[in-house]
Amino acid sequence: MSADLKTQIEKLVKELNEHNYRYYVLDAPVISDEEYDRMFRRLKELEEKHHYVLPDSPTQRVGAPPLDKFEKVKHTEPMLSLDNAFSHDEVREFDQRVKRFLKSDKEIEYTVEPKYDGLAMELTYRKGLLIRASTRGDGYEGEDVTTNVKTIKAIPLKIEGVDTVPQEIDIRGEVFIDIDEFEKLNKEREKSDEPLFANPRNAAAGSIRQLDSTITEKRKLHMACYGVGAMKGIEFKSQTDFVSWLKKAHFPVPALLDAVTGPEKVINSIKEIEESRQKFSFETDGAVIKVNDFKLQKELGFKTREPRWAIAYKFPAHQGTTVIEDIIAGVGRTGAITPVAALKPVRIGGVTVSRSTLHNWDEIERKDIRIGDAVVVERAGDVIPHVVTVIKEKRTGKEKKFPPPKTCPVCGSQVVREEGEVAYRCIGLNCEAQVLEKIIHYASRGAMDIEHLGEKNVELLYNQGLIKHFIDLYKLKKEQLLELPRFAEKSAQNLIDSIEKSKKTTLSRFLFALGIIHVGEYAAKQLAKHFEKLDDLYRVEPERIMEIKQMGEKLAASISEFFSEKENLRTLETLKKLGLMISNPDYVAGLRKEKGPLDGLTIVVTGTLSKSRDEIEELIERLGGRAAGSVSKKTSYVLAGADPGSKYEKAKSLGVKILTEDEFNKRVAP
Ligand code: IVH
Repeated sequence: MSADLKTQIEKLVKELNEHNYRYYVLDAPVISDEEYDRMFRRLKELEEKHHYVLPDSPTQRVGAPPLDKFEKVKHTEPMLSLDNAFSHDEVREFDQRVKRFLKSDKEIEYTVEPKYDGLAMELTYRKGLLIRASTRGDGYEGEDVTTNVKTIKAIPLKIEGVDTVPQEIDIRGEVFIDIDEFEKLNKEREKSDEPLFANPRNAAAGSIRQLDSTITEKRKLHMACYGVGAMKGIEFKSQTDFVSWLKKAHFPVPALLDAVTGPEKVINSIKEIEESRQKFSFETDGAVIKVNDFKLQKELGFKTREPRWAIAYKFPAHQGTTVIEDIIAGVGRTGAITPVAALKPVRIGGVTVSRSTLHNWDEIERKDIRIGDAVVVERAGDVIPHVVTVIKEKRTGKEKKFPPPKTCPVCGSQVVREEGEVAYRCIGLNCEAQVLEKIIHYASRGAMDIEHLGEKNVELLYNQGLIKHFIDLYKLKKEQLLELPRFAEKSAQNLIDSIEKSKKTTLSRFLFALGIIHVGEYAAKQLAKHFEKLDDLYRVEPERIMEIKQMGEKLAASISEFFSEKENLRTLETLKKLGLMISNPDYVAGLRKEKGPLDGLTIVVTGTLSKSRDEIEELIERLGGRAAGSVSKKTSYVLAGADPGSKYEKAKSLGVKILTEDEFNKRVAP
């Protein structure tokens, strides 16, 4: 390769990284997304053609093959936790303790930063390059999540912009998800009947613990770096000195960092952060106070699990009292009916709250929630406000219970609750709410990704009688659109073009788009890995699905039912005739297990064994068995180690055979 080409690639990498930094860290892009994409594609082309890929190339952020499991990583210096303060007085006491320990009367300089509600992460850089990212784990040993963390665009793959690049440095911070991204994600999950994340922290943690990094990439995670672990070849004087270096080196840092002297000023800073809280795009549940001077930090050292030089101040949870004016039953795409409380609007922590999720009727019953009740509502870490408790003393006797509907509030069909399910569902095949939600889901981003076909347009097309099913999308004509109020020449053409474009899709997207109950993005991807073509799923037996790791009975039954239904198979064939072209880049040949000694057996592992539970479960799966999480009549064996818990008792009561580790080893020995 010519020197000229090499320079060209190097220049493109440098420029793209700079634009990345401007976009994701500084929030001040200087080029358009299209221009960025164009440069990115050019770089990828050159790299592929000339087999020259720099380690910090932006193309290296995605595309790693999915992992089987995360490897364990030992932290060079332990990643500890923080002690909490719940009042201003406890902050003053912390300052007293610091001074007492240092035997000093002099006022101490502290930094005050927002406390990010996410997942602690360590980034290890060697000679300036990001070589590893690991979770905190138990503080001493975490998990290697490098491929996932590399998809977070705000994290530099290479340290740039500073004079001293350390030989090695562990940079620590919090991986988090912005509130609006979290809400978007939960909306998508609700549509696909996947369990919702309770708060942004769980969403961030769940996204990092994905074995398939392409899913992590979609989650739009962010990071704030606030700490340093082991380092070689560099020194810092203080937290402010370190954070200035981080900033220069292109790292994302906390949104605010005050350096102030004495406890009263610290308390003022905390108040400021609490007041700005609503303006932050991320969730924060407190402030972190640190002794600024690193020498003093060292002198103060650690108690068992926490440093003496820092403390986390927790904001009081945001609560308010109001009245439930009504309870509304909403119908989702799968027919699931969810109760939502319409509240008398109340301001909680600067935000007007007028709705609150009631989750399901078990929850309504458990908390004895009635229309007309005075209630305490909380918006804490949980962004979706929820009812904490009913103020029963305020009852007048006029409050009304809200039983689950017997008929669907939208279409009037029967409502049923299947065994073992929390949700009540409308079983009406033509329920308008479901049909609409199904089409909206089909067109959505993670599914067929039909641009220009958001909720409003689906509703319009549906109400005008142009679509009754997603099949009808492929029969739409531009002339029909032009007759509608919201379409002109260009917008009509755009929609027709995006529908056309979406015909080329992948099996995992398509399976997700179909809206099969319980099949979210993850399950769809797993199916695509195991089944080469759509037709391979026709009339699939549930047992075949249950061979796939993490796929349980409910999911297997739902998939098998869907692909056994003649009407559904006819729909799939019609879609193919209408030009749908499904490729499957996710398919992994030969995943199906050979016959092994544990073929057809379902085994539950409990208690302490000589290997970790993960290792044993993997072995079971490799040998043809299925490792299940809970004991039922269908369990073949329970493998019990020392101190087994309730699973052991349950196995005994159900008469399920119990194996010791020795007995198990004998069974699996070749
Ligand atoms: S400093 C020795 N700074 O909160 C630990 N932690 O509840 C030093 N956190 O373990 C941690 N924002 O995961 C620090 N600005 C911040 C933080 C922060 C969030 C997390 C971190 C910590 C946990 C303690």
